Amino acid sequence: MRTHLKRAALIALGRFRALRRENVRFRGAFASFDEAVAHVRPGLLAGYDHDRVTPVSREVMQQVPLWDYPILYWLKRLAPEITRLVDAGGHIGVKYRGFGRYLELELVDWIVYDLPAQVKAGRAQVRPQDRTLSFVERIEEAPAADVLLASGLMPYLNEPLTDLVRRMRVLPRYILLNKVVTRDGPTVVTLENFGVAEVPYHIRNVDEVPTALDMLGYDIIDSWTIDSLAHRIQTHPELGHATYRGYVARLRA
Ligand SMILES: C[S@@+](CC[C@H](N)C(=O)[O-])C[C@H]1O[C@@H](n2cnc3c(N)ncnc32)[C@H](O)[C@@H]1O
Repeated sequence: MRTHLKRAALIALGRFRALRRENVRFRGAFASFDEAVAHVRPGLLAGYDHDRVTPVSREVMQQVPLWDYPILYWLKRLAPEITRLVDAGGHIGVKYRGFGRYLELELVDWIVYDLPAQVKAGRAQVRPQDRTLSFVERIEEAPAADVLLASGLMPYLNEPLTDLVRRMRVLPRYILLNKVVTRDGPTVVTLENFGVAEVPYHIRNVDEVPTALDMLGYDIIDSWTIDSLAHRIQTHPELGHATYRGYVARLRA
């Protein structure tokens, strides 16, 4: 009885916030990317692929917060095996810039794969010291790599991980994923508030990524949760917490 009352109260609170059009970070719960796009508010840009969206959070993403350290640890540990890395969702090269203080990036051919708006901005903003950084708009264009890094991509990716990885020329020996957002129930797509835009944001069923990695022929050799990033969709709190996760997976021999 208590649980039912709590759930009803959460639903009422969420819908009230939605009705009041509160300026929340996450709004709505949809069955698909396309359905979420169809609900973007008039006057706002839809999705990530716009010049005016590229600067949003750019400086923050170039920092190295605590939750990047598992990725740094693995990149450092695997360094002797890495000559080329594909950074999917790498934006303008934000992690290349952030990680440059800790890794010997002049030894790694670092290829960012991202949407056209970010690739255009990334190419325009390349610094003289970014000698090993380059960009592609299609992952198929990237040459064979030792590592696929996808940090912060999975909430925004509008295709299954299996499809993305199978479009690579050669399966990379390692896949490093960070900030995969998960929940216990079915996958939902909400809209993230970027100010100038609303961007579809996937909160995936917790088994989706491990199952995809297994189907692709990978063993998960490390994983973690980022508890400080947990959140709820403010308009749909009854859907529970979204949990951020990271994975390191190695191709089975
Ligand atoms: C939050 S940023 C992540 C930036 C950085 N990797 C990090 O960890 O902070 C998400 C990135 O995913 C990109 N993205 C979204 N959908 C994509 C897609 N279908 N293919 C490639 N990149 C995509 C966005 O353009 C954006 O640069």
